[in-house]
Amino acid sequence: MRTAHSRVLAAFATPVLKGLILAALLACSPAQAQHGPAVGPLPGGEGSDIVGVVCTQCHAPNAFTQLRQGPSAWRAQVHDMILRGAQVGPAEIEPVVKYLATHFGPGINVPAALLPGRLPEGAGRDLVEQNCGLCHAMDRIASARHSAREWDAIMARMTVLGQPAAGDEARRITAYLNEHFGAR
Ligand code: HEC
Ligand code: HEC
Repeated sequence: MRTAHSRVLAAFATPVLKGLILAALLACSPAQAQHGPAVGPLPGGEGSDIVGVVCTQCHAPNAFTQLRQGPSAWRAQVHDMILRGAQVGPAEIEPVVKYLATHFGPGINVPAALLPGRLPEGAGRDLVEQNCGLCHAMDRIASARHSAREWDAIMARMTVLGQPAAGDEARRITAYLNEHFGAR
């Protein structure tokens, strides 16, 4: 099997880049190498070397650096990408998932473009902004009207993606959503 380093080299076409990357890799002490270098816009850390290569072959990194979701949603995404042809070996799946969930999980360095914004005042607004603002802006919520059944389905999907509110808090959120963004 090819190593992550030879993959880094194979993934970049120009000799100049290869030289630069090789120099950067050689400069890494073993401890740093294990940690993984920053790759382009991707923060360094365990797994960055694999992700920097295998996840940038078909689309730019911002296809995933602009998303925030929890480990089970990232795992599903990685499996989906494997079905589309991403070269992630069985032993690499968990390191890749861990890297993605660590650097692009709920509430982690949420990009400015995704920053929450404010919703109309009302009971439950703070809960919505706190929990739903971990991954995306409020316009995503305010941009459409949904029936109660649709909001239930959206809440269920957001929970799988990693939204943390449960029990009474989740009920208060759903009540707010139905009151302000319910189908008319
Ligand atoms: C073999 C090509 C290929 C590779 C390699 C690949 N992807 Fe994708 N990816 C796609 C395609 C095609 C789409 C668009 C799918 C769609 O529109 O439904 C996509 C879409 C995505 C999306 C959704 C973007 C959005 O705006 O909704 C994410 C997130 C994503 N990829 C993450 C990854 C990650 C993480 C990796 C590395 C494990 C990866 N991709 C590797 C082909 C690839
Ligand atoms: C862990 C990250 C995360 C959290 C937290 C989160 N979402 Fe999302 N949300 C996403 C992602 C990723 C998408 C786009 C993919 C999708 O629609 O499944 C999305 C899309 C949406 C959409 C558009 C989907 C549609 O079908 O119109 C709505 C509405 C939404 N979220 C509402 C919420 C609400 C309400 C909350 C809080 C209870 C919330 N989200 C919390 C990740 C999150």
